[in-house]
Amino acid sequence: MTNDWEFKRHRRLRSSSAMRSLVRENHIKVDDFIYPLFIIEGDNIKNEVPSMPGVFQISLDHVKAEMEELKTLGIKAVMLFGVPNEKDEKGTGAFDENGIVQQATRLIKKEMPEMLVVADTCLCEYTSHGHCGVIYNHDVDNDESLELLAQTAVSQVQAGADIIAPSNMMDGFVTVIRQALNEAGYKNIPIMSYAVKYASAFFGPFREAADSEPQFGDRKTYQMDPSNRRDALREAETDIEEGADFLIVKPAMSFLDIVRDVRSHFNAPIVAYNVSGEYSMVKAAAQNGWINERELVLEKLTAMKRAGADLIISYFAKDVAKWLQG
Ligand code: PBG
Ligand code: ZN
Repeated sequence: MTNDWEFKRHRRLRSSSAMRSLVRENHIKVDDFIYPLFIIEGDNIKNEVPSMPGVFQISLDHVKAEMEELKTLGIKAVMLFGVPNEKDEKGTGAFDENGIVQQATRLIKKEMPEMLVVADTCLCEYTSHGHCGVIYNHDVDNDESLELLAQTAVSQVQAGADIIAPSNMMDGFVTVIRQALNEAGYKNIPIMSYAVKYASAFFGPFREAADSEPQFGDRKTYQMDPSNRRDALREAETDIEEGADFLIVKPAMSFLDIVRDVRSHFNAPIVAYNVSGEYSMVKAAAQNGWINERELVLEKLTAMKRAGADLIISYFAKDVAKWLQG
């Protein structure tokens, strides 16, 4: 009788660091990342978000320095979220040509034109009730909200946004935004759709950072039920039919099966959103000395690539860039 492992020894390909590099299947690189930024109205503000160590709300006067830091790190794309002073029922600040995101976009494109600006298109940071659309009969009204989202997208592109990323989960948002952009002459601006977005407890720290906690109820009538898998394919399918150029799956860590499903069924670039709660948990454990932050973060981001993500939106982008630089 022969011992099988005399012939099939898996450990042969793990014998040294160089050997492991040779057979490594997935990698992360700084080009994979989009870094989220919170731009707050006011002067000389740089507030660390309590639940997100290392993440700040910054005012416009800090934007130039931020861009220089990102450039040094090799980060080539940012995703913008606004923290306005004033909110109202309709979220007017989202589509105001002098809204905080529009101002930040113009400034970034002036200071560093090569930086890709991805604009998150939603109303929740700007509505007094904190929901992602307008309220009618105690619920978010789908079709009334679409018109405002389309206006928001057009105003973001007019300010210089390179990519529109609608996160509101209204049905038909890709169609109305695509039509509005085309009519305004922006046929070449891609839509990075939050096609697959689950109603998740992992968004908690973001809502502190963006001041966008719903004032009543929750987002479960528009964001997806985390129990569902086929629902993700239905969502992605309609967005692709409506003309989405990228598909986002969000959150990432607890939904890697979904990332793989979407990757297997569609050929558009797949984006994993490594959300705020995923960041906060790691930072908290790291601050306690309970985990090796660098190894853990690189492991989990590589897992997102392995699951099928082409790109990752992550608050860890700067940390990763530093680690990859050595
Ligand atoms: C706005 C939006 C949210 C996130 C991205 N865009 C919050 C939400 O839907 O409640 C979450 C991002 C994160 O948690 O990092 N609709
Ligand atoms: Zn929203």
